[in-house]
Amino acid sequence: MALSPIRSSTFSSSSAIVTLAVLLLLTRTSSATLSKNFYSKTCPNVFNTVKSVVKSAVAKEPRIGASIVRLFFHDCFVQGCDGSILLDDTPTFQGEKTAAANNNSVRGYELIDDIKSKVEKICPGVVSCADILDIASRDSVVLLGGPFWNVRLGRRDSRSANFTAANTGVIPPPTSNLTNLITRFQDQGLSARDMVALSGAHTFGKARCTSFRDRIYNQTNIDRTFALARQRRCPRTNGTGDNNLANLDFRTPNHFDNNYFKNLLIKRGLLNSDQVLFNGGSTDSLVRTYSQNNKAFDSDFVKAMIRMGDIKPLTGSQGEIRKNCRRVN
Ligand code: HEM
Ligand SMILES: *[C@@H]1O[C@H](CO)[C@@H](O)[C@H](O)[C@H]1NC(C)=O
Ligand SMILES: *[C@@H]1O[C@H](CO)[C@@H](O)[C@H](O)[C@H]1NC(C)=O
Ligand SMILES: *[C@@H]1O[C@H](CO)[C@@H](O)[C@H](O)[C@H]1NC(C)=O
Ligand SMILES: *[C@@H]1O[C@H](CO)[C@@H](O)[C@H](O)[C@H]1NC(C)=O
Ligand SMILES: *[C@@H]1O[C@H](CO)[C@@H](O)[C@H](O)[C@H]1NC(C)=O
Repeated sequence: MALSPIRSSTFSSSSAIVTLAVLLLLTRTSSATLSKNFYSKTCPNVFNTVKSVVKSAVAKEPRIGASIVRLFFHDCFVQGCDGSILLDDTPTFQGEKTAAANNNSVRGYELIDDIKSKVEKICPGVVSCADILDIASRDSVVLLGGPFWNVRLGRRDSRSANFTAANTGVIPPPTSNLTNLITRFQDQGLSARDMVALSGAHTFGKARCTSFRDRIYNQTNIDRTFALARQRRCPRTNGTGDNNLANLDFRTPNHFDNNYFKNLLIKRGLLNSDQVLFNGGSTDSLVRTYSQNNKAFDSDFVKAMIRMGDIKPLTGSQGEIRKNCRRVN
């Protein structure tokens, strides 16, 4: 009898410790650490600042909006959304910019620099480059006619990059088949549905001849008129006209909408990796749905962008807030 209060108090204090530990673990492992209000006290004007820079850039050149969205994707797929793609090479450091998926292809770095320097003026040392990529991507989609959503913030910037990861297929190549695409997204915790919705980002922007040459000359699941039209500015021979550009969405290349999916239905996907989404496989019905229902596409695209933005963020005391997105502090 005399022992029982002692035992019960011992039990309750140790169970409290266990509960606390479990809570700590939960909060550390869940991505609940990102939040839409992260800068509401420390940099309430960050949204206006980012938006105004993106707005004038998009007014000058609409494609830049597409380029920023792709930059965010290529950042997130290599060691998480941590701004690693923004780090410049140095004599002793090879970053991600020259990896196969990025070299001579990813663009928009100067716009991120411009945004960062304006944000640093209003709130020095507060907003990460990784978060700027997310906000600027959202603003690009909105400014080009797509849906608005609240982005989740609080990421910090990496002090490293990974050329090897960026170079070895973590980012799927345009020659990918459907299985490969699904696997690559699954490796990042994203579903096949997320993958199809996110591919809808090919509703704007451009691709180089080298990314679609094999498709327009060698493939059969392509509309003949479309293939011939694309061949006019993309010569057959490797190494000639490699960097000539074509719109990913032939109908509304500077507008965010569901035309990308309508194109797939008539075999006018530009990349092999586009057309495999509608080629008799498991994603056909979803492509058909998105092509008929722009709201369904917008809604899934937003969910998938948020999930992509949640990939392995650095938070708390991890990483740093870079002063200049191109180099570690
Ligand atoms: C599903 C797998 C994907 C593949 C294989 C792929 C591949 C490509 C390729 C090859 C290009 C053209 C690059 C060039 O020729 O220079 C491109 C452009 C683009 N991609 Fe993707 N992509 C994929 C998914 C995504 C995702 C998830 C997003 C964003 C959410 C995205 C956004 C874009 C945009 C906006 C462009 C145009 C960029 C510009 O004009 O600067 N892509 N993609
Ligand atoms: C990147 O492209 C440049 C220019 O085409 C080329 O000289 C360089 O070798 C490429 N880098 C890598 C790592 O492939
Ligand atoms: C870089 O990426 C490669 C390939 O994904 C991986 O094996 C390696 O561990 C990564 N390196 C670092 C330092 O994270
Ligand atoms: C898809 O591509 C992967 C990787 O390139 C390859 O190993 C696989 O055999 C291909 N699958 C089909 C069904 O073609
Ligand atoms: C088309 O396929 C043939 C045979 O596989 C190949 O030799 C040729 O290089 C391909 N052409 C293009 C433009 O990719
Ligand atoms: C041209 O390049 C493609 C893709 O890189 C390759 O599959 C093909 O074999 C090349 N063709 C020739 C003739 O070198």
